Amino acid sequence: MVEVAQLAKRFGATQAVADVSFTVAAGEIFGLLGPNGAGKSTTIRMLCGILDPTSGSGRVVGFDIVTQAEKIKASIGYMTQRFSLYEDLTVAENLAFYASVYGLDRRRRAARVDEVIEKIGLAARRRQIAGTLSGGWKQRLALACSTSRRCCSSTSPRRASTPSAAANFGSRSTASRRRGRRCS
Ligand SMILES: Nc1ncnc2c1ncn2[C@@H]1O[C@H](COP(=O)(O)OP(=O)(O)OP(=O)(O)O)[C@@H](O)[C@H]1O
Ligand SMILES: [Mg+2]
Repeated sequence: MVEVAQLAKRFGATQAVADVSFTVAAGEIFGLLGPNGAGKSTTIRMLCGILDPTSGSGRVVGFDIVTQAEKIKASIGYMTQRFSLYEDLTVAENLAFYASVYGLDRRRRAARVDEVIEKIGLAARRRQIAGTLSGGWKQRLALACSTSRRCCSSTSPRRASTPSAAANFGSRSTASRRRGRRCS
């Protein structure tokens, strides 16, 4: 599902990623560990088709990260390290917006929002303005918004989220994997 060979990225004089090779099987949960600045986010961004590698190659859900980046973006979810949702929309509005960006029609979108809100424990906060959520709840909402896809990639999901949210993320990923989906 993810295949990377000798991936490298240079920003001017900075070698952000050097000679990275690995494979991740369908349904496998995979993490990158390393100190600040090690190149984890840069690697994930290349895998998501957001950033071109300087050299090396990779395929994600069957698509080439350089020549088929748009197809990758249409197939996966990505939760960024920084909060990237709309602070002036409610929890439910953010979820509905992302579901529409991900191509769900109006009827499926409403059902999906209800399902995700219930699963991730946001029911009591569905009408709350996202900008007024605490840091951990913002992370939880961002995670929820990124999980309607085949493959879910997250930069540091456990860093700012609560331990229970992190545990919930792991158990939901495992349950989804057993059902044949990557994340839900
Ligand atoms: N757009 C950019 N332009 C220039 N340098 C960059 C850019 N993005 C990342 N870098 C540099 O690339 C290196 C790797 O950064 P990256 O963000 O991938 O690290 P990280 O492993 O995700 O770190 P952290 O654990 O702090 O999130 C760092 O030296 C960083 O300063
Ligand atoms: Mg990072």
